[in-house]
Amino acid sequence: MPDDDLDDATATWVAPGRVNIIGEHTDYNDGFVLPIALPMTVACRAQRRSDGWVGVRSRQRPGGQIDLALNSLDTARDYAPGWARYPIGVVAEFVRRGYPLGGVELRIDGRVPIGAGLSSSAALCCSVAIALRDLFDVRVSEHELIELTRAAENNYVGVPTGILDQSAALLCTAGNALFLDVRRFVRSEPDAYAQIPFDLGAHGLELLVIDTGHPHRLADGAYAQRHAHCAAAAGELGVRSLREIDSIGALDRLDDPVLRRRARHVVGENARVLDAVAVLRSGADPRRIGPMLTASHASLRDDFEVSTPVLDAAVSAALSAGAYGARLVGGGFGGSVIALVDYEAVGRVTAAVRELFARTGFPEPRTFAVVPSAGAHRIS
Ligand code: GLA
Repeated sequence: MPDDDLDDATATWVAPGRVNIIGEHTDYNDGFVLPIALPMTVACRAQRRSDGWVGVRSRQRPGGQIDLALNSLDTARDYAPGWARYPIGVVAEFVRRGYPLGGVELRIDGRVPIGAGLSSSAALCCSVAIALRDLFDVRVSEHELIELTRAAENNYVGVPTGILDQSAALLCTAGNALFLDVRRFVRSEPDAYAQIPFDLGAHGLELLVIDTGHPHRLADGAYAQRHAHCAAAAGELGVRSLREIDSIGALDRLDDPVLRRRARHVVGENARVLDAVAVLRSGADPRRIGPMLTASHASLRDDFEVSTPVLDAAVSAALSAGAYGARLVGGGFGGSVIALVDYEAVGRVTAAVRELFARTGFPEPRTFAVVPSAGAHRIS
């Protein structure tokens, strides 16, 4: 990191990317999600500045440094480069909420692939948020940190995301998947989340990530449109959110076939999360969640319509080569696929995906296995 000019008062905080095992597009419908944190993190090295300015540098954007007065952060939304709006948005959210921040120097080094649907943006926001919390001794709960980092992304970048990514980055623990009930969480009810042991290695399994190299984009309006469809479906059904609906039959009351399909995905996906959690909690063979992953993909493809030909190709190649289940991960519209595979089958599945991609003229995908890793923390 180009931080030689920072002195010994500097410390470093990291926050991870995530893959969601199952529960996609359910978070902004008050539903259920089941992410794990990735071993890849975004690091934020930070130090107070005495001049009341905020400086942001990123190792991935050499030369693209930003320096702003703490009281002029709002204007930055209009001209700061895209990547810088995330950290600036987090600082601005602390200020907007009345937390007493001072000037600060932030040095970012991101190791979560960008645009791969692995939540590099939430990792960035969360690393900055915990750095600010600790540097300025801000008394802020994890609950508020999640809302604050989500607000930074919603307000400064303009994507109406839910809380999946921020919750994963801040609440996940090594060795576990995070079962989060968003409705309980937003209402601050007890037992809103639980750590579910997720030890695939003990069963001879790997969770393979296939990064298709087709960047996913949420800011172009399609994600926001899905959000709006769900809100419209809930409105027509007379409920606060689609979480209130637990039978597909109840959706017959929706006249619009598009809204019906969107709602069918959400209702079915919530049920699949609960089924997957029941399997994992019972200590049964995790291979049994494979068909749930594949059903999730089919639903995201056919009902929610957020898949793409390259994501579908990765899923079908993985399944043909013996994966127990596979699905697109994150918002969709590009990005990555996850596949649940036997340890011995990793080479075969990887080769099958590469071969199909080469034959179809898609760029070579990047594949890697991941294990449930730690949530955001200070490392030095
Ligand atoms: C993106 C958003 C999340 C969530 C997923 C889809 O990652 O940031 O809030 O909605 O898409 O599950």
